[in-house]
Amino acid sequence: MPRQILVTSALPYANGSIHLGHLVEYIQTDIWARFQRMRGHSCIYCCADDTHGTPIMLRAEKEGITPEALIERVWHEHKRDFDGFHIAFDNYHSTHTPETRHYADTIYTRLRDAGLIEVRAVEQFFDPVKQMFLPDRFVKGECPRCHARDQYGDSCEVCGAAYLPTELIDPYSAVSGAAPVRKESDHYFFRLSDPRCVEFLRTWIVPPQVQAEAANKLNEWLEGGLADWDISRDAPYFGFEIPDAPGKYYYVWLDAPIGYLGSFRNHCDRHGLDFDAYWKPDSGAEVYHFIGKDILYFHALFWPAELHHSGFRTPTGVFCHGFLTVNGAKMSKSRGTFITAESYLRHLNPEWLRYYYAAKLNGSMEDIDLNLEDFAARVNSDLVGKYVNIASRCAGFISKRFNGRISGEELPKLDPSPYIAQQSQEEMQRKMEAARKTPSGPGFIAHAKGYIVQPQFDETDIVGWSQARGVEIAQAYEDRNFALALRLIMELADIANRYIAERKPWEMARQEDRDSELHEVCSVALTLFRNLTVYLKPVLPVLAEQVESFLNVAPLTWADVLSPLPPGHAINEYQHLMTRIDPRKIEAMVEENRRNLAPAPTPEPAPARHAEHQQHVAQTDEAKVPESRHIGIDDFTRVDLRVARIANAEHVEGADKLLKLTLDLGTETRTVFAGIKVAYDPASLVGRLTVMVANLAPRKMKFGMSEGMILAASDDQGRPFLLAPDSGARPGMRIR
Ligand code: MSP
Ligand code: ZN
Repeated sequence: MPRQILVTSALPYANGSIHLGHLVEYIQTDIWARFQRMRGHSCIYCCADDTHGTPIMLRAEKEGITPEALIERVWHEHKRDFDGFHIAFDNYHSTHTPETRHYADTIYTRLRDAGLIEVRAVEQFFDPVKQMFLPDRFVKGECPRCHARDQYGDSCEVCGAAYLPTELIDPYSAVSGAAPVRKESDHYFFRLSDPRCVEFLRTWIVPPQVQAEAANKLNEWLEGGLADWDISRDAPYFGFEIPDAPGKYYYVWLDAPIGYLGSFRNHCDRHGLDFDAYWKPDSGAEVYHFIGKDILYFHALFWPAELHHSGFRTPTGVFCHGFLTVNGAKMSKSRGTFITAESYLRHLNPEWLRYYYAAKLNGSMEDIDLNLEDFAARVNSDLVGKYVNIASRCAGFISKRFNGRISGEELPKLDPSPYIAQQSQEEMQRKMEAARKTPSGPGFIAHAKGYIVQPQFDETDIVGWSQARGVEIAQAYEDRNFALALRLIMELADIANRYIAERKPWEMARQEDRDSELHEVCSVALTLFRNLTVYLKPVLPVLAEQVESFLNVAPLTWADVLSPLPPGHAINEYQHLMTRIDPRKIEAMVEENRRNLAPAPTPEPAPARHAEHQQHVAQTDEAKVPESRHIGIDDFTRVDLRVARIANAEHVEGADKLLKLTLDLGTETRTVFAGIKVAYDPASLVGRLTVMVANLAPRKMKFGMSEGMILAASDDQGRPFLLAPDSGARPGMRIR
């Protein structure tokens, strides 16, 4: 019985470019969906742009266009990038659509009627100039703990502290620069703390709905007590107005997952499918969401609770993955490792990245690293050196010597054991057992339900051996353990290559009377190559298509490995299949991204993760992925450090932390506001030398423009200790 499967990837924000971090998710989902389709199941893959919220509204305003025009343009950019990586969505939609509005209203109304929506007054920062409430990420100020300046309203990027925007010292609006005021307004809450929600979630957040490691985290959150969820925002806001609450809009995170329903509904309408058959509570269809670990809270708590209490089915599984690092560190613009999809595609083949990610993904929530050297080495050795090599070594003989036809005889049974030298059969068996014993994910379900059956293959024959491994490879794909699948596939490629090396067809070709032997070896090798292509096709769909036309076969499905190529089958002339990665191309890409620092791909901060859960979410937020311990010398030299003489220092009226300093740099003077009032009497500072950052962008503060920053050490209480150069230093000297 074919399964009815619906899969989704998280909806990317419509205010930034797709980058290699995003692609971990879309490539992973696409491989899984393609695998399911090759197995003969129905697997519909839906996604959309996440289009609402303050950052998108403000970005459009800054560009002088409507939000509708902005999201339209970005939709095309995203679609272009995804197409470039062969992400085969069945539908790529948008949340700013009638379908999504319809389901948002349906869910909201049903939750309200069930008594799960509550209105409460909330006090929030308000920008008096822009006349709008400010999301946490749009309030900035000095960190109350370490006194780093220009920190976001939810957490400090310097010391990692999480706090409320109202705790910031000297807060200012990141939109207008104005000092925000506190203002009250009514907000709508989804009552997640209601015992009905808590009880339901307690039973729901277990494997196989979520991975075991996710269940631990979710239970911690649940036991810590779920806060009600603020789902409304006040005008001006780009989103859907709440039907019975004029001037109030659904918070972007309320309608974002509903965008999955909207996209699928749109797909159903265009293809005459029954939406309810997938989404009614007792549906036999399977629904899986692929997401990153930063948005687990939304998908495994809010989302199932919403669905369950508004009459929809809940997901069969939420598949959570880790974050991408490049060369062991968080993607970094200055190092050139913040690589956009678009720039990758200008330099490199998308299937190389698909292969490399697959080789790293094992179905867990661990972060995965793209090591650029390893990337080239791995792709060159596996794909070019092992896989493609099989065809390129044998195809020529078939074309030149046998009129393009493989052997007309039925292939003989050949003992594979001489070629399985390295890894013993037992070891492979052990690995598979271990993988099977992890009782989570659909692989487990599929196994238990008997979707994956072990047909009997003759493992004493080299072709039978390659067929038998297909069962384990399928299991690994099903479990999203693509790393294991590719290991098994490359072991098969090794066997095929050893077989060729041992039989030496090139010697046969030079000797009399060995034609039928040569024909046989090349035919066996091409049959093995065809099976490898089946197994690799979810990862390398375009390469597989080229192979299909070379082998002159219909689009390959999983079941094709069950039968060998028919005797006497005619193939086409071998065309070059894949080139090696030239590391210089990788360097060129990194260099280009380093140079393109200015048009940063994500200039606007993402909408704040929900404030009540900031402490939890903060641990896994993108901003929290640790930087490498090292910086390059160029990172350091970008900071222009100078000796400065404090020409004047004075109190600032109305500021309890700040002193206003006039700094003499020899050729010019600067005004700098410094939070050092606790420790220094202004009179004692005048005339002394200190160190300043001279190329920090000027910043408008409540009290005037600040044109740099002075350096100080600080103790646990944040008490500052100014730096001073040795005697003899003069104002303006460069520090390096
Ligand atoms: N718009 C929300 C999702 C709403 S889903 C109803 C969002 N968008 S996002 O553009 O920030 O991220 C989209 C997906 O990409 C998320 O699952 C996120 O975890 C993933 N990734 C974004 N950066 C990533 C890495 N650096 N590494 C791995 N995955 C990353 O969140
Ligand atoms: Zn701090």
